[in-house]
Amino acid sequence: MKLWKGRFSKQASSSSDEFNASIGFDQRLYAEDIAGSIAHAKMLGKQGIISMEESELIIKTLKEVLADIEAGKVEFTIEGEDIHMNIETILTERIGQTGKKLHTARSRNDQIALDIRLYLKKETAEIDVLLDELLAALKDLAAKHKETIMPGYTHLQRAQPVTLAYHMLAYYQMFARDKERYADCLKRIDRMPLGSGALAGTTYNTDRQFLADELGFSEVLPNAMDAVADRDFALEFIDCCAITMMHLSRFCEELILWSSAEFGFIEMDDAYATGSSIMPQKKNPDMAELIRGKSGRVFGDMMSLLTVCKGLPLAYNKDLQEDKEPVFDAVDTVKASLSIFKEMLQTMQVNTGTMSKAAKYGYMNATDAADYLVSKGIPFRDCHEIIGNMVLYAINKGVALDELTMEEFKSFSAAFDEDIYDAISIVNCIKAKQSEGSTSFESVEQQLSNLASE
Ligand code: ARG
Repeated sequence: MKLWKGRFSKQASSSSDEFNASIGFDQRLYAEDIAGSIAHAKMLGKQGIISMEESELIIKTLKEVLADIEAGKVEFTIEGEDIHMNIETILTERIGQTGKKLHTARSRNDQIALDIRLYLKKETAEIDVLLDELLAALKDLAAKHKETIMPGYTHLQRAQPVTLAYHMLAYYQMFARDKERYADCLKRIDRMPLGSGALAGTTYNTDRQFLADELGFSEVLPNAMDAVADRDFALEFIDCCAITMMHLSRFCEELILWSSAEFGFIEMDDAYATGSSIMPQKKNPDMAELIRGKSGRVFGDMMSLLTVCKGLPLAYNKDLQEDKEPVFDAVDTVKASLSIFKEMLQTMQVNTGTMSKAAKYGYMNATDAADYLVSKGIPFRDCHEIIGNMVLYAINKGVALDELTMEEFKSFSAAFDEDIYDAISIVNCIKAKQSEGSTSFESVEQQLSNLASE
């Protein structure tokens, strides 16, 4: 039976019931919906809008409904349309007339706005824990690989030698900023919409601050029309998820490359790889590929909610029912991706030998050779050209820069001395970095210990 049937002379067709219903997906919000209703009933009782006995009976029964849902004893119906009316119907079936009083001074419009905010508060906290775990895994990996030298790339071409610790700490910073972003977004999620009514407020002497305190919100939204109409907080949340997925996706792209025979830098643990149905030799980094692929879903979730909202006149429109699936999908995807990614990272094998060998070739000490000449008083731009010529010469000869003889060095510049060999050894290239935040062993040590104090 429809709770809003009074104005209608005909029943809804089964096709419109089906099309209109959100219970298939918004049942996920049952706990938030009941928490909101309990706070609302408490407030109604306290304010004398319903009697204290009625308030207590509603609260007690809602708690029983919650327990029954959790025990799998409740079946929601399409006819009940959404989670709000399903729960109200169950309540009324159990306690009759009193149940019908719960919706006094409330609308589904403020109810759903509340439910999503409560849900996102909870999920933001869970994502924060997952990010902490990932950060801890990255820190461990960095601590383990302070001496592991590898090529650093630009344009995916070997550029300058770095350490694996340094590379991991770069990602650490990205995910640490993700954490900040969710925390900042949480400030705007953490505002209480209940008590707004349909759009214009209500005629009852409600206490919205009491509701905020009961439900653990920091603030009450100051304008009822805004409170029921906007979903910017959800958009901001999906945006945070999209950025996290983008970071994960870049990282996955690297791990996929690194686990190829061409790189050979890492090997995924068997538990996080898959085989091929036809090629017996294959070991594929599917988890990393899936995370990279799933980033597309979350970017899509953001675009879809933006599009849902963009043409809506104030205040509530049923279009807003379409906010939930993108939000849920973003939550599910980012949580699953963060957790499997961390496991993958913790179990992969690092081939330190292959990494450091790769760092030896590719003329990655060329910048350091140029810096050496700068130290001998030659302007950097001239040094750049001299070393460029030397690299070309070495490539043609098929040798590394430090395999050239002293005479060969001298033929390019008289400023070269025996100490050039030391200056351009790969370890010294790393050691010699002096700027704050560099790949030098000392700086990485500092970066790691700064994290410890965070
Ligand atoms: N199921 C609806 C939603 O998700 C709840 C609000 C319905 N409000 C209304 N006026 N029809 O948005």
